[in-house]
Amino acid sequence: MYAALRSIGSYVPKKILTNFDLEKMVDTSNEWIEQRTGIKERRIAAADEHTSDMGAKAAKVAIDRAGIELEKIDLVICATLSPDHLCMPSTACLISQKLGIANVMAFDISSACSGFVYMLQIAKAFIESGMKKHILLVGAEKISPLLDYNDRTTCILFGDGAGAAIIEATEDKNEAIIDVHASADGNYGDLLITAGGASRFPCCDATIKQGLQYIKMSGNEVFKVAVKTLTSDVVDILAKNNITPDQIDHFVPHQANLRIIEAVRKKLNFPIEQTVLTVAKYGNTSAASIPMAINDAYEEGRIKYGDLMLLDTFGGGFTWGSALVRFAGKSL
Ligand code: COA
Repeated sequence: MYAALRSIGSYVPKKILTNFDLEKMVDTSNEWIEQRTGIKERRIAAADEHTSDMGAKAAKVAIDRAGIELEKIDLVICATLSPDHLCMPSTACLISQKLGIANVMAFDISSACSGFVYMLQIAKAFIESGMKKHILLVGAEKISPLLDYNDRTTCILFGDGAGAAIIEATEDKNEAIIDVHASADGNYGDLLITAGGASRFPCCDATIKQGLQYIKMSGNEVFKVAVKTLTSDVVDILAKNNITPDQIDHFVPHQANLRIIEAVRKKLNFPIEQTVLTVAKYGNTSAASIPMAINDAYEEGRIKYGDLMLLDTFGGGFTWGSALVRFAGKSL
């Protein structure tokens, strides 16, 4: 059995926060944000709209597009750094409940922005081992409550949203997810961290006063390691599978910063037309970013059945990964 990416879906909240809005909130400018990141605007979830709500909406689109009955789904995984609840229940359990999927294994993974690629590796292993046949993957993020809107180095970067995919067992090798790389190095943990709120620094007046509930990042250092690691990882996965950049139909990078994407793209000689870019309109939506980007390109009619996609991602941990994936959903 091979694992095939059978469908894609996404959901974005209605509220748009532009760079001009941010100019009124913090010492920054539209020009600075656009030049340094490529971001123009991002979506912000409503107060009563939670990660699991957005995840369930994206999942519904993917399930409908796959034309699969709910009863057939035998595993639900959610990748998120902004779960509804810190410890339990998992966001995957809440998404399953919202969709009406009961009595199947459901769990969250914590690998920050690399979540979607990590989930692909897990789903591929479950399907190739014969243990599962129809897996729902959801990358969902409500990052806005984890941002300090007085910290201009982080609050301009992130947005909310969700993306989802159905991964199915197939006997057709031409539909298969070809390969997935997923890796991590905890030595870099402090460079991108939400230190407070869990067991090491439990939520209390002191941790709140220090702002430990918010995302903190050493942007410049993250940037350098991201470019270096992503480039070498993509070179490795292409070489290992005897695939050259011109055989890739769509390069779908994690949408964190246009300059990171451009640095990797240029080193690998991917033409811009081959590259899927959504960072300008959504900012960094962490684990949701790649499925949201695939979804947008699919809805634009760019991604079709049988197309070969190269995904790459990098995030807190540090975690990183890349994947060679055939799109095995119906062309629009
Ligand atoms: N508006 C205006 N000025 C800002 C600013 C903002 N939003 N944020 C930082 N600055 C200032 C800094 O204070 C600094 O000023 P100084 O020179 O007077 O000290 C100057 O801009 C340059 O800061 P620096 O951090 O070197 O900028 P940069 O070019 O590295 O860009 C990031 C900052 C965060 C955009 C960039 O480092 C980045 O994208 N890093 C990777 C982040 C990322 O992708 N993280 C997620 C990984 S999944």
